Amino acid sequence: MTIARSHRPFWSALASLALAAPVPAVANDLAPTGEWSANQAGQANLPPMGWNSWNAFHIDIDEEKVMASARIIVESGLASKGYRFVNIDDGWWLKRNLADGRMVVRTSTFPSAALQNGSTSFRPLTDRLHIMGLKAGIYSDIGRNSCGQIYGYGAKTNPEGTQAEREVGLYGHIDQDISLYFKEWGFDYIKVDGCGIRALTPSYPLVANGTYRALTPLIDFDSTNRTNIPAVRGLYEEVAEALHRHNPDGQYTFSLCIWGSANVRNWAPKVGNLWRTSEDISPRWDRMLHNLDSSARRELYAQPGSWNDPDMLFIGTGDFDADHPVEARSHFTMWAMLNAPLMIGFELRKATPEQLAILGNGDVIALNQDPGGHQAVLAYDTDAMQIYIKTLASGEKAVALFNRTNDPIRANLTAAQMKFMNDHEVKLTDLWAGNEVRFTGETELELAPRQTLVFRASGKRQLAQGMYLSELPGNVFPAADGVTSLQHDPLIHRGMGPWTGTRGGGERPRYAGWGGARADSSPWGEILSISGRKFASGLGVMANSRLEVRNIGFSRLAAEVGLDDSGSAGARRVRFEVYGDGKLLTRTGWVKAGDTPHAIEASVTGIKIVELVARADKDGGPDFPVTWGEVALLDE
Ligand code: GLA
Repeated sequence: MTIARSHRPFWSALASLALAAPVPAVANDLAPTGEWSANQAGQANLPPMGWNSWNAFHIDIDEEKVMASARIIVESGLASKGYRFVNIDDGWWLKRNLADGRMVVRTSTFPSAALQNGSTSFRPLTDRLHIMGLKAGIYSDIGRNSCGQIYGYGAKTNPEGTQAEREVGLYGHIDQDISLYFKEWGFDYIKVDGCGIRALTPSYPLVANGTYRALTPLIDFDSTNRTNIPAVRGLYEEVAEALHRHNPDGQYTFSLCIWGSANVRNWAPKVGNLWRTSEDISPRWDRMLHNLDSSARRELYAQPGSWNDPDMLFIGTGDFDADHPVEARSHFTMWAMLNAPLMIGFELRKATPEQLAILGNGDVIALNQDPGGHQAVLAYDTDAMQIYIKTLASGEKAVALFNRTNDPIRANLTAAQMKFMNDHEVKLTDLWAGNEVRFTGETELELAPRQTLVFRASGKRQLAQGMYLSELPGNVFPAADGVTSLQHDPLIHRGMGPWTGTRGGGERPRYAGWGGARADSSPWGEILSISGRKFASGLGVMANSRLEVRNIGFSRLAAEVGLDDSGSAGARRVRFEVYGDGKLLTRTGWVKAGDTPHAIEASVTGIKIVELVARADKDGGPDFPVTWGEVALLDE
């Protein structure tokens, strides 16, 4: 069935947004804590893998479809490859029972939920999934109403009853619903959408005609500055607290779905296990590029426990169907490299053995599930061609050469891009073709249109005695990234949206995050540079920032620091401070624009958390970047 997205009146809804007063963008807390503040609660030490009903069935979901997919996941061997979650998306609910506030499952589509006593429960279904060795996921909305109710209004699985009975979202029921879904019904995972806090202005047609109650939108999807970020964050924090309360064993996974809005990349890593970085993916190549780009330059914001989510896989459909294995492999490879959740969004009953083999490529899955938890870092970045490098726990690298275009490309891959020595042999193992390539210095590779070549790579490391922190993004967390002026990211490919066709004005730059901390790049995508000296390795971040670094047994931290040449600090100066488990280890004097790089060094033996603080002498003025050049953890 087709969701009635065409009458999704975004433009009229957003034009009449009645938002709370603008709020100050971001508070930057530079005080060292000696702690790792990225989220550790819940189960997401590795990116979650599984299946979700949405891309395959949209709102037309039922028990048979879910269980058929679950059976195929087990029988095809995908479960043993790591696909564990079977997640029900929008469309499962009938209504909220007003007498006791409990949610009621639609038993005409989920018959096993009908209990003898007349009530409903998903427990029989989650029990069956658990017996199969799988985990079960459910879906809700942080507002009173869901995306399917609003943008898919009229679909046969929309909730029924009075206006109040149709308020199926978490708003006002967070504790009760989370308790029901996890303690009583036995779910392991929840995706919490946000349409109910985005659309329902008093003038929205479905509000004006009495279908839904107005809820002053907290999110303005077109303007982060008109979004009430603390209120959005507060609601999601309430969910996190309820999950914690009702899952004393910590067996839950919390997925935030507010499509890159509300500056989510800045705070969600402290609140949940994964967060959508963009609007919905669609089965088009250009839309996949959009979703990929929304996560690709956020490498420092993801780490074990909390991951960027560029949305579910669309392998099996449209540009990624059985006739497009090259595109399907590229989509899969890039999601693996970015440590994206690998959520199959395909009607698996239609999958060919070749398609199952793509989803089941154990070597590519192993990159995604590598225990190091380091998202790939861009070593080469243009609109046509990108090279991504991912450090593996073994110390090897994974390298993906990604042809974004419809033309063949001859690409050069250099040892230096992998931070390997130029004069030693590099060995590459192709993870799709299986063959080996050996080279010294650089090699030339041929890419077909839209092809991704992905290799496991070994060579002699440039840094024999340690690691650049930019090689270890999973161990670096921008606890305060210094971004005070929220701007939308201009580097994201503007793919056609899934619902709007070519109505409206096209895809505008979105998703606050421009100017965020980066590995091997300035926050604005420039080469790291201090007083004319360029750094191929290092961290780029705004002044007034604090980076937390997990030290995995190294004894020394060293860097060359200064104001980055891409900024305009004016007369402002910066002091660079290094803390170990909360205590000051060393700091520079005040550094100004144009100063040559200052060497900074500290002994970190026995220290668990190193903090890198770049403190400006004055607040205010435009954000400006600093560079932690060649910052590395070293053995003596
Ligand atoms: C939003 C989400 C999708 C899906 C639908 C359900 O659009 O982004 O992933 O959950 O809602 O209605």
